[in-house]
Amino acid sequence: MSDTPNETPSGPDLRADGASPGDLPDGGMLAGHVDGEPVLLVRRNGSVYAMGGACTHYHGPLGEGVFDGELVRCPWHHACFRPETGEAVRAPALDPVPTYAVETRGGRWFVTGPAEATHRPRPAGHHPESVLIVGGGAAGLAAAEMLRREGYEGPVTLVSSDTSAPYDRPNVSKDYLAGNAPEEWMPLRPEAWYGEQRIELILGRTAVGVDTSKRSVRLDDGRELSWGALLLATGATPVHLDVPCSGEPHVHYVRSLADGRAIVAAAEEAERAVIVGASFIGLEVAASLTTGGIEVHVVAPEAVPMERILGAELGTFVRRLHEEHGVHFHLGRTVGSIEPGEVTLDDGTGVQADLVVIGVGVRPNLDLARHAGLDVDGGVLVDEHLRTSAEGVWAAGDIARWPDPHTGDRIRVEHWVIAQRQGQTAARNMLGAAETFDQVPFFWSQHYDLPINYVGHGAGWDSATVSGSVDDRDCVVTLRRGGRPLAYASVYRDIDSLKAEVALERGGGDPAAGG
Ligand SMILES: Cc1cc2nc3c(=O)[nH]c(=O)nc-3n(C[C@H](O)[C@H](O)[C@H](O)COP(=O)(O)OP(=O)(O)OC[C@H]3O[C@@H](n4cnc5c(N)ncnc54)[C@H](O)[C@@H]3O)c2cc1C
Ligand code: FES
Repeated sequence: MSDTPNETPSGPDLRADGASPGDLPDGGMLAGHVDGEPVLLVRRNGSVYAMGGACTHYHGPLGEGVFDGELVRCPWHHACFRPETGEAVRAPALDPVPTYAVETRGGRWFVTGPAEATHRPRPAGHHPESVLIVGGGAAGLAAAEMLRREGYEGPVTLVSSDTSAPYDRPNVSKDYLAGNAPEEWMPLRPEAWYGEQRIELILGRTAVGVDTSKRSVRLDDGRELSWGALLLATGATPVHLDVPCSGEPHVHYVRSLADGRAIVAAAEEAERAVIVGASFIGLEVAASLTTGGIEVHVVAPEAVPMERILGAELGTFVRRLHEEHGVHFHLGRTVGSIEPGEVTLDDGTGVQADLVVIGVGVRPNLDLARHAGLDVDGGVLVDEHLRTSAEGVWAAGDIARWPDPHTGDRIRVEHWVIAQRQGQTAARNMLGAAETFDQVPFFWSQHYDLPINYVGHGAGWDSATVSGSVDDRDCVVTLRRGGRPLAYASVYRDIDSLKAEVALERGGGDPAAGG
């Protein structure tokens, strides 16, 4: 996996040479190119569609993904595109890929050029007078974008306590921190987009009260904003470590772009860093700082990093990978105190550090929902349409606990893609779509050049079986409960991961993934 576009598209020249039915069986895809651009042919029920072959998220090669009979799924982070229209119907991609005209000559299909734009009818149904979105993160931005995509014409306001316009939060601990992603790559949308889309963006302001009967929200500057429909997407806040001197200026948490900037600035001067916590974010930060030449020590209470999520074998591999890059682990240990220049562990060991980054989990921001009198129980309780207990109020993202049809449990997850997709579903439902949120959770993580993809919800798994080889970086770990596959963690098995996702969506496990 890389974040750079394909240099030379592979496959046939679809304008000059075209493709035959032998190259493209019904239900299949064929990656080729037109005028130097990657183009994908997709055949369904006898019709052939041509669409751009590079995902609009990070340029993943769509031809290496899966066509599930309806949607083309990106191999890298599972965005989904509709071949007929090119629309990115499921995040993390938000923008469509181009579509092309296809002509049949002599029993072959040729791409002749860009397709004519088709007018998309607006959905019928109830449209609220105005929409207010509280939270300018994954869910909030995706909801605002979807409202406009679906043709909603009314006022849309996005309020965020963050001073930065919505940005690519997952990148904060990855390429951005490692210095491989410049600041310009971080915004999800350019500044001008908000004006063009007539989305009022209120940054650096916190919503402090909701009156569901008056349909208004109060901001911390005293302003009252009214709404016809309200989306709460307030995300989560890092858990603070309660140890002496954890408030020192060299101690950082990582959630926002500002946090990322502060760590980047501190890393310029630092020689040794302690990361507290060996979860995804802690270890991504460890990888990024190590890449920048800093000596990194990771302190965490568990014996195997991420064992609870990935199983012991993959967790052990991740630990070894970090050690090979020079990371020092202090596992089975917690932090006793943090002083300038040194972290003291619970066994009295001192570890020198001029930079400390704490990544010990997050707590959903539920105060506003509680204040509004919504039903809250370990998350804002929403129904299958992401409606809260109050009329006209939806919730999405890290705060939402929804009835998951796949596990039968009410779940809340902290995944970028799920937050975006919930924002999209909530937006469509505000416009009367009555769409059930039934998507299978997905997240990814990146450590150096190693991508880990995860589909499903593995909470409470009781067995982890590996198919393939973890050491060869070619594996799927299937997590089961009572013999039933719940989730799959994979390394360089993109097709298996996608097939497992489709199988979970359709109510089963996937034999190809060892399920
Ligand atoms: C560094 C980092 C890396 C990550 N990497 C990955 C990854 O690789 N893959 C993955 O799946 N997930 C990843 N995640 C998790 C993912 O980013 C979150 O699950 C996702 O951002 C949640 O989206 P959200 O919209 O619910 O909340 P957020 O994106 O957190 O947005 C919430 C927004 O609401 C604002 N807000 C909060 N309260 C108020 C209020 N009262 N008034 C106004 N505004 C308010 C906040 O300032 C924030 O802008 C990562 C998270 C972090 C921090
Ligand atoms: S590159 Fe396609 S979903 Fe990320």
